[in-house]
This record gives sequence, structure tokens and C-alpha cells, in this order.
Amino acid sequence: MSKKLFSMRKTKVLGAGVLAAAITLAGFAVAQSVTNLRGADVDEPVTTAEIPGTVDRRMQRNYRQQPPLIPHSIDQYQMDLKVNQCLACHDWTKAGERDAPTLSMTHYLDRDGAELDHIAGTRYFCNQCHVPQADALPLVDNIFQPSSTD
Ligand code: HEC
Ligand code: HEC
Repeated sequence: MSKKLFSMRKTKVLGAGVLAAAITLAGFAVAQSVTNLRGADVDEPVTTAEIPGTVDRRMQRNYRQQPPLIPHSIDQYQMDLKVNQCLACHDWTKAGERDAPTLSMTHYLDRDGAELDHIAGTRYFCNQCHVPQADALPLVDNIFQPSSTD
């Protein structure tokens, strides 16, 4: 009985293998004859728009409470549980010698409002709120107006 079962399984496994090979081959044959979504041949080199570079100047805030955009590239700055390189320039202990703006004092308040000497855990991952700015056109129209400028 168990021997029979075993050989049945073997047949099934073999069958699945053959099927997979057939699908792969069929896929290959199809791929040879399709064009991509733009109607071009799949082998045609794709030209894409250049990735917009970082804007290295401060930008106007869109509303008073907005986390300021980052006016420099952050590609090289490690930020994880162990290291936060942003603090090497922006923490109050370093900002003077690095000639960088000091973290806002709100970043040194814990969730109960107590003042800390080090960055609050709630502000540790800077790019939850701050993002580098790129000189790119908006992807969708935006008619946002801050409530207090009228
Ligand atoms: C090597 C030093 C250095 C490091 C590291 C650094 N910054 Fe900066 N950052 C600066 C300097 C200098 C300025 C001011 C630039 C200016 O005013 O043109 C600045 C400006 C900013 C501002 C704008 C502040 C404002 O009031 O407009 C933000 C936000 C900021 N950085 C966030 C970050 C974040 C987030 C990181 C980490 C991913 C980081 N920075 C890493 C030096 C640094
Ligand atoms: C939860 C959102 C949040 C996080 C996380 C956060 N920030 Fe901010 N940050 C803000 C907001 C909002 C402001 C402007 C209002 C204020 O001063 O609190 C600000 C202001 C700043 C400023 C301008 C200070 C000034 O006086 O011009 C700097 C520099 C800055 N943040 C850097 C950082 C860095 C570096 C980190 C990570 C260590 C960080 N922030 C994490 C929201 C955040």
C-alpha cells in the first residue's frame, strides 16, 4: 500500500516537472513575439527622463508647521537603530562646529513634554518627516493653500 502511494507521488512530481518545463518554454516563445506597453520591441533600449537632482537651497515652507525640506543630498547618510549621521551635524552638541542649523527644540521633548538633552525617540527617524527636495514637476496638480495667508 505505502509502496503504491510512494510511486503515485513520484508520478505526480514528475508530471509537475514536465508541466513546469512546458510552461517555461511556452513563456519563452511568447516573449519572443510581444512588444512592450509602449508598443516598442522588447529589445529596444529604453530612454527615461533624467532623475531630478537635489535642490541645494532652502525652500519656502507651504504651511507654518511644515517640517522643513532638506536642502542637501542624504544619499550617503546612514540612519538606522545604531547610527544616525544626521545627528553628527544637527544635534545641539555638534551644530556649531558643523555650521548646521540646530535641531528644533521640539525634537528634545519626550511624549510627556519633559525636556531631554538628547534627541527624543519620537524624532529619531528624521525622514519620517523631512525629505530632500528635488527640482521635479508635481505628478498631479496641487492647489493647496495654507489656511492663514488669505
Ligand atoms: C555634514 C553635515 C550635515 C549632515 C550629516 C546632515 N545635514 Fe542637514 N544641513 C546641514 C547644513 C549645513 C544645513 C544648512 C544648509 C543651508 O542652509 O543651505 C542643513 C539643513 C538641513 C535642513 C533644513 C533646516 C531648515 O531650517 O531649513 C534639514 C531639515 C536637514 N538639514 C535635515 C537633515 C537630515 C534629515 C539629515 C540626515 C539624513 C541631515 N540633515 C544630515 C548639514 C548636514
Ligand atoms: C515627527 C516629525 C519629525 C521628525 C521625526 C524630525 N523632525 Fe525635524 N522638524 C519637524 C518639524 C514639524 C519642524 C518645524 C517645526 C519645529 O520647529 O518643530 C522641524 C524642524 C527641524 C529643523 C529646523 C530647526 C530650525 O530651527 O530651523 C531641523 C534642522 C530638523 N528639524 C532636523 C531634524 C533631524 C536631523 C531629525 C532626525 C534626527 C528630525 N528633524 C526629525 C518634524 C520632525
